Amino acid sequence: MKLKLVMAAAIVTALGMTAATAADEPQVVRQEMMKKVGSAVGALGAIVKGEKPFDAEVVKASLTTMADVAKDFPNHFRAGTEVGLDTEATTKIWETPEDFKAKSDELVKVAEAQLAAMPTDQASTGAAMKAVGATCSSCHETYRLKK
Ligand code: HEC
Repeated sequence: MKLKLVMAAAIVTALGMTAATAADEPQVVRQEMMKKVGSAVGALGAIVKGEKPFDAEVVKASLTTMADVAKDFPNHFRAGTEVGLDTEATTKIWETPEDFKAKSDELVKVAEAQLAAMPTDQASTGAAMKAVGATCSSCHETYRLKK
């Protein structure tokens, strides 16, 4: 396993040196997806903290982004992308892919439930943020490297 990882790292490094762009690499694609989710939570956070007024459109767009990303996210962890390009993915993703997908589905489910209920003010946006936030930590705990 370890040797395989080292070899994968060497291959990724070699590819990285010749590829014109890394933007299409799964590691980069999934990091960009998570960045989108991060900004979506940030938009909710601004409302919760009172930095921005409650805006139903912003809340809706943020929750929709989270659900959309989480539906596709587990598709970007093919074999050979365990390391490289600053990935923070843990190898556990490839060991228990079903559980990893279940964790992503959980975010879809919670975000969609919040969309169906739809927050109406600052307080209910806070509750929605807390609900989706729990699914982020639940996955990161096991599947994202702590740096
Ligand atoms: C199904 C598991 C899972 C869920 C659910 C999840 N994440 Fe992640 N997240 C990851 C993994 C894996 C990475 C590391 C990806 C990589 O580096 O290849 C990551 C990385 C990130 C990053 C760093 C992106 C970068 O490279 O700059 C942010 C920010 C982030 N997640 C935010 C969130 C937020 C906010 C939520 C909840 C709304 C969330 N994530 C839900 C698994 C998950």
